[in-house]
Amino acid sequence: MSKHGRMDRWPGIIESYREFLPVDEKTPVVTLLEGGTPLIPAPRLAEMIGGNIDLFLKFEGENPTGSFKDRGMTLAISKAKEEGARAVICASTGNTSASTAAYSTRCGLKAYVLIPEGKIALGKMSQALIHQATILQVKGNFDEALSLVKQVAEKYPVTVVNSINPYRLEGQKTAAFEVCDVLGSAPDYHFMPVGNAGNITAHWMGYNEYYKCGKIASLPKMIGLQAAGSAPIVHGRVIKEPHTIATAIRIGNPASWKPALEAAAESKGEINLVTDEEITEAYRMIAKYEGVFCEPASAAGVAGVIKLNKRGHFKKGEVAVCTLTGHGLKDPDFSIGISEKPETIPGGLDSLIQALGF
Ligand code: F0G
Repeated sequence: MSKHGRMDRWPGIIESYREFLPVDEKTPVVTLLEGGTPLIPAPRLAEMIGGNIDLFLKFEGENPTGSFKDRGMTLAISKAKEEGARAVICASTGNTSASTAAYSTRCGLKAYVLIPEGKIALGKMSQALIHQATILQVKGNFDEALSLVKQVAEKYPVTVVNSINPYRLEGQKTAAFEVCDVLGSAPDYHFMPVGNAGNITAHWMGYNEYYKCGKIASLPKMIGLQAAGSAPIVHGRVIKEPHTIATAIRIGNPASWKPALEAAAESKGEINLVTDEEITEAYRMIAKYEGVFCEPASAAGVAGVIKLNKRGHFKKGEVAVCTLTGHGLKDPDFSIGISEKPETIPGGLDSLIQALGF
């Protein structure tokens, strides 16, 4: 409790994990108090899946801009500010652009975001717009947009805040710390969607740092899930025209391809794929059985749990954490599109009673 009698507030990931991050007293901390997201037990979902596992959902949709990107963005933007940058740039399937726009406007940095035309979810677009980022829609996919961003930043005074910026991964590793802090140990498995492959890389860094300093005594198996139409790592080749309903992970040439493969190999985990149908089914189940609303891409991890469980992968009582990377409200078109339309009643008590079936 603070001296005002209120609960102490969560100070954001930089203040919470300062000793693990590349910051010092000169770093101006730009924060929206990101992180500290809930690790939600999911016993009904585990039961419906038919697994004997202890399942938890790390709900990153509860970050300030509704996705895990805020963890990396607070650090990337703070360091850009420290280094005297005037402008930042990113390519994005939507969430990075929302986070970039929010954190940069908060500290007076100019933000440029490149997005694949027509392929980002409505909520994400609305965020980048309202925070006054300069948005450029590219006639091409995320991979092409990221390639343009890298070329511009080589020649012009603008800082890239995609996950090729090492501060992004440093910030994102704090999600692994939080999981361990809550569980009191590392889980047996950590499942998550893989797009540009930065997040799985960051988590593996985080778990290893906690292991090395003795905070945890074991490491989890890292299980990354790509969408079947966008699964370059699983197939071992660049996918020129990636496709999936999970637009956040519609990526054919991930920047952190190699470290993601290493994370899977070193942890004795795997990078696997799930179909759009499997993702949609998991997305529905998370919402229906646990009351948690994530965006489609975020459900890929749970789809992975379902897939591995069918193979008889888990031992009774094993602990599995699934990161739900973004909030369901990011993509309302998708949830409405797969749901039944509500019935309209003429009004009046009789029609209501009839419709309710009393
Ligand atoms: N889930 C969501 C909701 C995402 O937005 C992303 C990536 C991922 C998973 C995959 O994470 O790239 O670290 O493997 N979104 C990026 C963006 C590409 O531009 O917002 P990753």
